[in-house]
Formats: sequence, structure tokens, C-alpha cells
Amino acid sequence: MTSQAHVIDAASAAMIESESQHLAHNYHPLPVVISRGEGAWVTDVEGKRYLDLLSAYSALNFGHGHPAILAAAREQLDRLTLTSRAYHNDRLGPFAAALAALAGKDMVLPMNTGAEAVETGIKVARAWGYRVKGIETDAATIIVADGNFHGRTTTIVGFSDDPTARDGFGPFAPGFVHVPFGDAAAIEAAMTPHTAAVLIEPIQGEAGVVIPPEGYLRAVREICTRNDVLFIADEIQSGLGRVGTTFACDREGVVPDMYLLGKALGGGILPLSAVVADRDVLGVIGPGEHGSTFGGNPLAAAIGLRVVEMLRGGEFQTRGLALGEHLEVKLQELVGHGVTAVRVAGLWAGIDIDPAFGTGREIAERLLARGVLAKDTHGQTLRIAPPLVVRATELDWAVEQLKLVLAGR
Ligand SMILES: Cc1ncc(COP(=O)(O)O)c(C=O)c1O
Repeated sequence: MTSQAHVIDAASAAMIESESQHLAHNYHPLPVVISRGEGAWVTDVEGKRYLDLLSAYSALNFGHGHPAILAAAREQLDRLTLTSRAYHNDRLGPFAAALAALAGKDMVLPMNTGAEAVETGIKVARAWGYRVKGIETDAATIIVADGNFHGRTTTIVGFSDDPTARDGFGPFAPGFVHVPFGDAAAIEAAMTPHTAAVLIEPIQGEAGVVIPPEGYLRAVREICTRNDVLFIADEIQSGLGRVGTTFACDREGVVPDMYLLGKALGGGILPLSAVVADRDVLGVIGPGEHGSTFGGNPLAAAIGLRVVEMLRGGEFQTRGLALGEHLEVKLQELVGHGVTAVRVAGLWAGIDIDPAFGTGREIAERLLARGVLAKDTHGQTLRIAPPLVVRATELDWAVEQLKLVLAGR
């Protein structure tokens, strides 16, 4: 590997150094200090521009500073930002109605981060298991998949099988049963009378954009229905246009009992997540049993409503699908030339780098030097999730940069 390394100036280096003095090490960022963003592009403090192919792990599906989302935020900033749920606010109802309609469900429970939506989904599933299904007290179990990533709270990392996420943070909550991802028969075999839910990502994001075999989601749906078990789809990264459909479950025409949404729901402006389900599921939570000071705040609701309105027309999904097909053709050409495999779903791709050409991190650093932001996952995989507003020519340019990096230039 001889391609050019990313070089930063003294001012950027000083900013990174001063940040590292006071920030705990929860991420391993690439060495770039971003100060502006517009659409698919960001600019660093030195004035260099980069094409953002990560989109904050899909939280920026609509790009940086989308004018329609900014307008909704600005308008709401001047009116009302926070009430807490101690009172009603005039934005939450319209947001909940719009999001429920987008998902074809009855009810929405708004939270903030993705991990909170997952935690909420677990609580709802357990409550449903006891109150509706009749599972004996404290005996409910939830089936999860190997390789999952659902967030970083202690309950959630307790059912991760990634040692970096999990080791050293126990003891963990019981009640989770692991099965291999993509294996519907394993889910069937793991069912017991105590099973309340199956919780999966329809496409595993952090694992490296791992797409299950065709028919898996339909089979999970059928198995859950037959066993009176909730199918919970964590669409926090895969949902809201990322894969060229509103939800990744749409790829198989499947409707889960519960959607977990986050990231792009906040329009790239603030954290906003939600659990979306029908009344017979979400209705099990009674007043006072769950909450969040900021969950459902009017600013987030105004932004979320605008995001839903933007998705309602379907243009972003159509664009994501077409651009994704275009991207896949370009990426497939790299297989055998430094890339061992690519997996593409809509505008989301996992690119496995041949170890002889470097690690995922090394490739990401060299892409950075060429003005492309991407991020590695699990050592050898480069994961990209360009904003849905990116142009085909920009994708072509980015793939060309990857080609040059792999060629050692
Ligand atoms: C599928 C999935 N679920 C949950 C989360 C957690 O979201 P957050 O980081 O907002 O807590 C993530 C984050 O990457 C995710 O990809």
C-alpha cells in the first residue's frame, strides 16, 4: 500500500489533540475536523471538501442542511422547543399520526436515540408477553440474531456477540436467546412458550451490511404469527429510504409487528427515535410506565413530521433504489481488484477489502486523503451509506477514488 496518506495542518492537529484531552474514547474518528456541511458534501476547518459517504450512519439520509427540514426546524425554534410530556404540545399529535400512517400502524411511542427505541421495544414486548400472551411473570424471552447491533446500553450490549461492545460491562440482563442471522429454521427451533418476540435488523448494518437470504423476512413473519410472537424489526439504520424502500422489510413485502426507527427520523438535526406498532401491541403500556423528558418534544416532532412528509411522496426511495443499482454495478467491478465481496441494498453498501490491500481503516484513511468520507467496520469491511441526495456522477467519482486507493495511488 503506497497511496498517499491524509495530511492535516497544525491547526487541525491542535484541535484533535485538545479534543482528546477531555473526551472519553468511545469512538475512533478519522483525522478530519469538519466545520460545515451542505447536501452530500462537508468542509473541514482547513477549507478542504469531502463527499460524505457515511451520512452519520444513515442519520443524514437527506444530506446536510436539507432546506425543507431546516425550514421546519427554524420555524419551530421560534415558537416552542420543549414542554416535556407533562403537557400536550401541538406538534406531537400530527407527527405521530403521520408516522403511524407512513408505517401503516396505529400508534407511535417517541423517544430520542436508537438505543432508547430498542430498550422501549424490549419493554413493550415483555409487557405484551405478560399481559396479552399470558407468559408467566419475569419469564419472557426475546430471540435475537448473532452479529446484531442494536445500540450501546447495558441491556443491549448484553445480547451482542461483539466482544468489544460487550466485554467488561456485565452483569447483563437475562432473557435473550441467540440464533444465527439469516436462518429462519433456527428461529423456529428456538421458539418456546416463553418467547415474546423476535428482534432482528432486516439487514445488519454494523455487521457490514449483511443481507439475509431472500425469503428470510417472510419466513420470520410466518413463524412469529404461527407462534403468537411479536416480530420486531430494528429499522433504525435500514429504514426511512436507505435501501430504496421506506423500510427494509418492504423488500420482501413484510410488515413486522413493531418497527424501531431512529437516525434519519431526526432529519440530521437532532436525535429522534420511535417505536411504531398497532394498538394491540403499543397499547399495553399504561400512563406512567414509560417516559423520556425529551421524547416527543415539539422541536423534534416538527422535524420528524417534515421528514415523514418528505418520505410520503416516495421520491427519495425511488432515487435511492436507482442510485443503488448504479452504485452496485460500479462496486462489483472492483471485486477481484482489492475487493473480495460487495453487498448492496439501495444506497447502502458493505465492501470487503482484500487484506493484502490493507485494512478497512487504512482504506478509509486513504479515501479521506482523496476527499471521500467512509468508515470501516469489523476490520476488513468498508461500509458506505451516501445521502439520498447524492448525484450519480458524485458516486462515480467516489468509486474512482476507491479504485485509485486500491491501486496504491
Ligand atoms: C440497527 C441499529 N439499532 C440501534 C442503533 C443505536 O442507535 P443510537 O446510536 O442512536 O443509539 C444503531 C446505531 O448504529 C443501529 O444501527
